[in-house]
Amino acid sequence: MKEIVLGLLGLGNIGGGVWDLIREFGDETAKRTGVKLRVKKALVLDKKIHGGKEVPDEVLTTDKNDILEDPEIQIVCEFLGGEQPAASMMLRALENGKSVVTANKMALSLHFDELRAMSQKTGAGLYYEASVGGAIPIINAIQSPLIANHLEQIMGIVNGTTNYILTRMAAEGAEYETVLKDAQRLGLAEPDPTADVEGYDAAYKLSILGSIGFHTRVRVENVYREGITKVNSEDIAFGREMGYVLKLLAIGKDNGESIEARVHPVFLPADHPLARVDGSLNAIYLYGHSFKDMMLEGRGAGDAPTASAIVGDIIQAAQNAVHPMPVMRENPLPVADDWYSKYFIRMKAKDEPGVLAEVAGLLAKEKISVSAMMQKDAGPDGKATLIFITHSAPEKAMQRAMNSLNPEITKVENVIRVEE
Ligand code: HSE
Repeated sequence: MKEIVLGLLGLGNIGGGVWDLIREFGDETAKRTGVKLRVKKALVLDKKIHGGKEVPDEVLTTDKNDILEDPEIQIVCEFLGGEQPAASMMLRALENGKSVVTANKMALSLHFDELRAMSQKTGAGLYYEASVGGAIPIINAIQSPLIANHLEQIMGIVNGTTNYILTRMAAEGAEYETVLKDAQRLGLAEPDPTADVEGYDAAYKLSILGSIGFHTRVRVENVYREGITKVNSEDIAFGREMGYVLKLLAIGKDNGESIEARVHPVFLPADHPLARVDGSLNAIYLYGHSFKDMMLEGRGAGDAPTASAIVGDIIQAAQNAVHPMPVMRENPLPVADDWYSKYFIRMKAKDEPGVLAEVAGLLAKEKISVSAMMQKDAGPDGKATLIFITHSAPEKAMQRAMNSLNPEITKVENVIRVEE
């Protein structure tokens, strides 16, 4: 039996989950794989505070060099989170020929090129299945069983917190702030929810998926990003009347000339596979020229599901004679700053002659064609609610049309992209 010696950088939620999974299921995993895992050292800030796990004292260390510079340690698992010092430590481990396993989407997304280059230079493996979609084997799927495909689309619900919030808003007709507070009380949203609700977490994940799926570096700063904070219960209710379900999606598309990379709320037809993925679940829908369409769904967060992906990566790193390496196109496509989409527009307008004609005229000026329209009678404020669904149109043209409306007559409440 092959013994693999591990060093863990961090022993918090995820590190603790990995410790537990190895302790409870390590023997069985060894029988199945021929690889026995031994944790030699775990880096902690304080030997007395490490999540209440029963870890022998000699395993704990507060010195990173006990892991990064120990020649006996073959695989380093990074659970520190955040950009630094995680990225530098991963780089050092790779430099020393140790394979790295990480769940850290931020450090990976921001330092993808350096980490990849170092891995290539020293031949050490870089594994990051748990960085996107938790337990869902999406990275492996793209890099191995689906490799004989030209991927045209990657659309994912990759943030459980926002999916939980949107699911409850839809089910209860509740407002964003109310559900957010409840999610925070239940531990399903962070006290500072910015990374999730403003779409940063999903943007890091899309940067990773897009880079490996489209063989083109998709930098997080080139991912268009809008969160869910402006969505309200009226949008969700009117969308539903028109047959749509609202989701925060990470969308990557290879349109032949450029790579679209965007994170924003999306109306999906109710029969789309992603539309029924509810609560804190994650799912990634793919379209490849050979396999056509496919969706992988599962738990995207939590210590045990994340540990499942990490231990899977450790075993692969131990077994692979040659580590997988994303191959980039020789002539990378640019990341698009404009794209085509259909749109849901909700506006409040004075209920008087000529208003509809004015809106239709401004849309027509930008060559945006309306495919459906709904009007709700004016309330006590004398303002009617108008809902438009457009045919496919360029994003920039839509923004110009909305900016040219006279806010005295028509106030745009929200514009939400529609995917079919
Ligand atoms: N905060 C993430 C989510 C989990 O809500 O899905 C970690 O990536």
